[in-house]
Amino acid sequence: MQSFSKELKKKGKSIAVVPTMGFLHEGHLSLIDTARSKADAVVVTIFVNPTQFGPNEDFEKYPRDFERDRQLCESGKADAVFAPSPEEMYPGNASTWVSEEDLSRGLCGKSRPGHFRGVTTVVAKLFNATLPDMAVFGQKDAQQLAVIKRMARDLNFSLEIIVAPIVREKDGLAMSSRNKYLSPDERKNALSISQALFSAENDVKNSRLNIEEIINKIKSKISAFGGKVDYVEAVDADTLKPATEKEGRILLAAAAFFGPTRLIDNIIIDVK
Ligand code: PAF
Repeated sequence: MQSFSKELKKKGKSIAVVPTMGFLHEGHLSLIDTARSKADAVVVTIFVNPTQFGPNEDFEKYPRDFERDRQLCESGKADAVFAPSPEEMYPGNASTWVSEEDLSRGLCGKSRPGHFRGVTTVVAKLFNATLPDMAVFGQKDAQQLAVIKRMARDLNFSLEIIVAPIVREKDGLAMSSRNKYLSPDERKNALSISQALFSAENDVKNSRLNIEEIINKIKSKISAFGGKVDYVEAVDADTLKPATEKEGRILLAAAAFFGPTRLIDNIIIDVK
């Protein structure tokens, strides 16, 4: 992978990487489009990273379809797909981790201990393997994005992090590879997350409800549709510190289980 990237660099070409865990959907394709619009060459990485899954999480059953992914990358005009094996990425005696220790503590970090250490470790390794000038990540994983930006800054990675907006199904459900797990009923009920976030935006901008009341309203809506709320929080979109007033850029982030499937979604509200 490094030789391929070095060859491109010798020719003066810029490289954008799109890190993924495969089972690509429209959301990933939009990341690839963004990458293509910014760089001369696009590398898509496909690696279901074992170190970011907890012991009781869905690593084994995470959906995989490499051949379909490869074709989608080809039709999306990616220049290369980097799909290493777990053994290549983590030789038996690998003992070095990359750990961000501030932004990764709250939200998903609280309910998924070790998750972000796995993410930052693998993303650092993918950056070192692909040698990109830029890397594209989706706003859907808002905390991941903040953590990776911080890691890139703190460790002096010489690249730009580019953010691509959340891609939603027509009815508003945020696209995710995990949506595949949902039964038809769970799929219908899971809509309550995006609907609650959209009406929360209206509440932040136009109602007298305070932040705590708005958060409670989101939780009630998700629970009313059978979702088991993991968290709903309002935080500053950059620092991820709790937002207690209706001011600045507020990230409203939610995680909830529908059946065994944990879904996340968020919305950023710019309060003028
Ligand atoms: O967002 C994902 O798909 C993964 O967390 C990433 C960034 C590819 C790291 O494994």
